[in-house]
Order: sequence, then C-alpha cells, then structure tokens
Amino acid sequence: MLDSIKEVLITQEALQERVAELGKQISADYKGEEVVLVCVLKGAVMFFADLARSIEGDVTLDFISCSSYGNSTQSSGVVRIMKDLDKPVEGKHVIVVEDIVDTGNTLHYLLENLKSRNAKSVRLVALLNKPDRRTVEVHVDYQGFVVPDYFVVGYGLDYAEQYRNLPYIGILKEEVYQSK
Ligand code: XMP
Ligand code: MG
Repeated sequence: MLDSIKEVLITQEALQERVAELGKQISADYKGEEVVLVCVLKGAVMFFADLARSIEGDVTLDFISCSSYGNSTQSSGVVRIMKDLDKPVEGKHVIVVEDIVDTGNTLHYLLENLKSRNAKSVRLVALLNKPDRRTVEVHVDYQGFVVPDYFVVGYGLDYAEQYRNLPYIGILKEEVYQSK
C-alpha cells in the first residue's frame, strides 16, 4: 500500500462486485431504452469505464467537466462547466455518472443544468455518497457505497491530481493535505 494512504476503505474486489450490481440494475431499469451515460471528468473516469461495460443495452457515452472553485479538499459552491457534452441530450434518457456526492453543490448545479436541456429523464449514479457533508439536497438514484467523512482517493478520485490510478478507494493521511 502507498505510504500516504492511511487505510483501504473499499477494495478492488468490492468495487468490482458493486459496479457489476449497479450495471445489472441499470440494465434492467432501462431495458429497451436508449441511454446517454455522462461521465463527470475526471474523478468518475474509472467508475464510468467499468460501469459502462457492465450495462447491457443501447448506450452512448459523453463527457462533461466542471470546476468548483475552492481549495483542493473543499468545494466552494460556485460551479462552472469547463468542457461541455459533445451532443445535445434533448429527448434522451441521461444518466450522470459521478465519483462522489459530498456537499452536493456540483451535482445540484449539473443536474439542473442537464434538465434544462429538455432531456427525457436525468438520473444520477454516484459511486460514493458522503451524506454527512451535504449542504444542498441531491437525489442519488443509484449509489455504490456510503462513506464516512474522510477525504478519500483512488479509483479516479484525486488529491492535487495524484492517486487517481489506485485500484482501490483509500483514506488519505491527514498529514498529506495538512502539510501543503
Ligand atoms: P460536492 O461538494 O460539490 O463535491 O458534492 C463533489 C466533488 O468534490 C470532490 N470531492 C472529493 N474528491 N475525495 C476526493 O478525491 C473526497 O473525499 C472528495 N469529496 C469531494 C470530487 O471531485 C467531487 O466530484
Ligand atoms: Mg469530481
């Protein structure tokens, strides 16, 4: 295990198992429908790639990137789209794929934004849910795991762009971000 990781919170095996279950559930719920899977870059990228492969049916992939101003462990609530979807989602079933719902600011903004484009439906799948920190209400349609209020990294999630490549979700040692 890496030196900066205090503890493995979710193992690679547990991630794979849960992602497969989510894929099954989504495949059943959207049977016979076309779905646009939207990856929220960059944190959701590993989850998105695994989830997409576990969904059976008519799926297209698109990507969006937003930034929320603030320091690297805390979001500020002001959200801006840095890279928009390539295609319009009007009349489509959209599933937004996100790494983690923390304060809820990012998703609240993003879901409202996508709904305003007249999608047929917009749902959210979040790998991790950290409900203790919520300041804005967000409905999570599908969730992988509820996590306690620790700063977690790996499987796409970063601290200062590092640790995204870890195959598990780990708790980052406080000294790593407190010393910066
Ligand atoms: P909000 O607060 O808008 O935050 O719900 C969502 C975004 O904040 C980042 N985030 C984290 N990233 N470990 C991370 O690596 C965490 O524990 C964590 N909590 C929030 C993440 O980018 C998410 O999309
Ligand atoms: Mg993110």
